[in-house]
Amino acid sequence: MNSAKGFFITIEGPEGAGKSTQLQMLRDFIESHGRECIVTREPGGTPVAEQLRALIKHHNGNEPIYDQTELLLIEAARAQHVRHFIAPALERGAVVLCDRFYDSTTAYQGYARRMDLEMLHQLNSFAVGGYHPDLTILLDIDPEKGFNRTAGRTETLGEHDRFELEDLSFHKVVREGFLKIAAAEPERVKIVSAADAPEKVHSKIRELLLNAF
Ligand code: TMP
Repeated sequence: MNSAKGFFITIEGPEGAGKSTQLQMLRDFIESHGRECIVTREPGGTPVAEQLRALIKHHNGNEPIYDQTELLLIEAARAQHVRHFIAPALERGAVVLCDRFYDSTTAYQGYARRMDLEMLHQLNSFAVGGYHPDLTILLDIDPEKGFNRTAGRTETLGEHDRFELEDLSFHKVVREGFLKIAAAEPERVKIVSAADAPEKVHSKIRELLLNAF
């Protein structure tokens, strides 16, 4: 937990879990309680970090992006995002909602790309400099169902990014990785099934928040 006045919530989950929809609904709910609430995302969230996001997500001609490069770009984007955007917001008392954060690094780079979990833990701590999430909502979904939902996504105008192009077994390991993180940190990470209708998922998230604030 961070020591700032604000409240830091991250939303995690496999592709197509409906994170964006839930973030918007959650922001409306929090603002209706009179709190400043900002929505941001990783990788990205600042102009510099968004430039890194483009490098991380998309192929660059014939030059592959190596796993080590990918990891360091993600951590560089995080270091920038936390210092330039998240920390100032938390210090002034805002609620920060972040679409993905360091649990995605553990799930994707750690479990799915098989990089050393202890090394990732240290890099994550270095990048965030003490600004850890107060609450993490894990929107859990079977990757097969998630894939069907992302098929029509418009961010990349129909072109799938490097992660979406990984096969189903990769995304199954990602999901299992998230579930292991939740099992290891049950106080912080709360699992919500993303299989239900958006309104139902939202009401479950609201219950969690009422307990947390
Ligand atoms: P998304 O925001 O559209 O979900 O795309 C971000 C992609 O980046 C997603 O496929 C997961 C991946 N990612 C990682 O591999 N590690 C990370 O630490 C983060 C934040 C994202």
